[in-house]
Amino acid sequence: MTTINKLSNHEDEIVTLKGWIYNSRSSKGLHFLELRDGTGLCQCIVSEEEVSEDVFEAAGTLKQESSLSITGKVIKDERSVGGYELHATDLKVYQVAENYPITPKDHGVEFLMENRHLWLRSQRQWAAMQVRNTIIFSIHQFFQEEGFIQMDAPIFTGNAAEGTTTLFETDYFDEKAYLTQSGQLYAEAMAMAHGKVYTFGPTFRAEKSKTRRHLTEFWMIEPEMAFYDLDMNMELAEKMLKFIIKSVLEKHESELDILERDRSFLKKAASEPFKKISYTEAVEQLKSDSTADMLDQMEKDRESEKKEIKQELEEIKKEHGSAKKWRKAQIDERIKEIHSRIDQIDEDLRNIPVWKESAANFEWGNDFGGSDETILTMQYDTPVMVHRYPAAVKAFYMKRDPEDDKLALALDVLAPEGYGEIIGGSEREDSLDVLLERIEAHDLPKEAFDWYLDLRKYGSVPHSGYGLGLERTVSWICGLTHVRETIPFPRMLGRLRP
Ligand code: 4AD
Ligand code: MG
Repeated sequence: MTTINKLSNHEDEIVTLKGWIYNSRSSKGLHFLELRDGTGLCQCIVSEEEVSEDVFEAAGTLKQESSLSITGKVIKDERSVGGYELHATDLKVYQVAENYPITPKDHGVEFLMENRHLWLRSQRQWAAMQVRNTIIFSIHQFFQEEGFIQMDAPIFTGNAAEGTTTLFETDYFDEKAYLTQSGQLYAEAMAMAHGKVYTFGPTFRAEKSKTRRHLTEFWMIEPEMAFYDLDMNMELAEKMLKFIIKSVLEKHESELDILERDRSFLKKAASEPFKKISYTEAVEQLKSDSTADMLDQMEKDRESEKKEIKQELEEIKKEHGSAKKWRKAQIDERIKEIHSRIDQIDEDLRNIPVWKESAANFEWGNDFGGSDETILTMQYDTPVMVHRYPAAVKAFYMKRDPEDDKLALALDVLAPEGYGEIIGGSEREDSLDVLLERIEAHDLPKEAFDWYLDLRKYGSVPHSGYGLGLERTVSWICGLTHVRETIPFPRMLGRLRP
């Protein structure tokens, strides 16, 4: 037995593949079975002349997602998916599947989410999970090679780390406990024992917002380093992101093709230095004429694109009536594409005036909203590192800027192409007295933080760290518009099953 991704090692040999029918069609004396086996797709040709009568008949009954093992000769064929075909000599059916609910026709996203357990088998979903796996692996590889140790932070916690409004409360033997929002505070303790550590675990936020970037359960990677200041922290974040992106570009040509991912931004992020601007500069930019001009131009571009594709739509609709069968299928495909593009354009056209208004009226001191980040990142080719935010909008543990007490030594990394925040981090407050003040000012229960305060009593040192959101990173790298497609079973507002 072998797998589809290894077929190139078996040219002209007889091999056996095991998998599921992705698609099938028949013509005189031939069945074309498109097989998927979890490693790729392969066209298998079952010819009446090459197999027994029983086998040929069985091959004709196989509906989508039926499971089978198939034996045949591996033939190189450039035009075929994956570059190889299997000319079958034998076939064994495990199960003839019932009518599969997900067909190649367009399904609404709600239907697909209800069938997430099956949707995972579709090509795009499969490709995204393959890339997710490589991102996870490359993160471990990066930190291990940089001399970090991985640590597991607890999931049941006694206190908030990232604000009290998004806590999931649970009952811990008659005591209140919360699902962790971040492993950071525990990582700080471990960094004082090991120097450089990182967590890689699930984190929970009771986010009541239904947006394309919010999950209630997501995976976060949180490095924490003793003796690192904000600049070193930023340098590490950039180096890590470049490493991840390079790994994906190296390993996933074909998956990125399936996802129809434009590589230009990824390539720039992998090779060019990231843009670094302060929060104050970012605010100036939001309010600038160049931002307003960019949005005006975007509006014009979208309108003219819409006009063009609407015209194309009219023309191909006219052509449809008299077109040959293969051309009709092509036209149907294009019509689908045009409709979904028009939906996107309409959404942009509704958004642009709102964005314009929000950018022009942005006030120094506020936190950036999703749309502000979108606008900012649309003006750069690489990820943007925004540093030194107003302390008032950031977490209690962030160190103040010694140059300006209103600012925290915070860092956000915003992914380009409108994606926005994928990393949040900071230098940490290392003075016991200041930290005590902050805990009070944020109205947090001091008792719950006693252990954390100990870290500032016994050999306190400058230290820094950040959190990378795995799903938002996968979403950007794969070019997916919504984080729901970046994790096998997403948990979000209104979604607990399957
Ligand atoms: O900016 P956040 O809240 O930072 C922290 O939790 C810090 N304790 C990290 C640290 O310094 N160790 O979250 C970090 C990242 C965000 O940039 C985002 O990518 C992701 O976690 N994130 C979410 N991803 C999906 N759904 C949500 N609801 C998310 N909330 C945060
Ligand atoms: Mg943040």
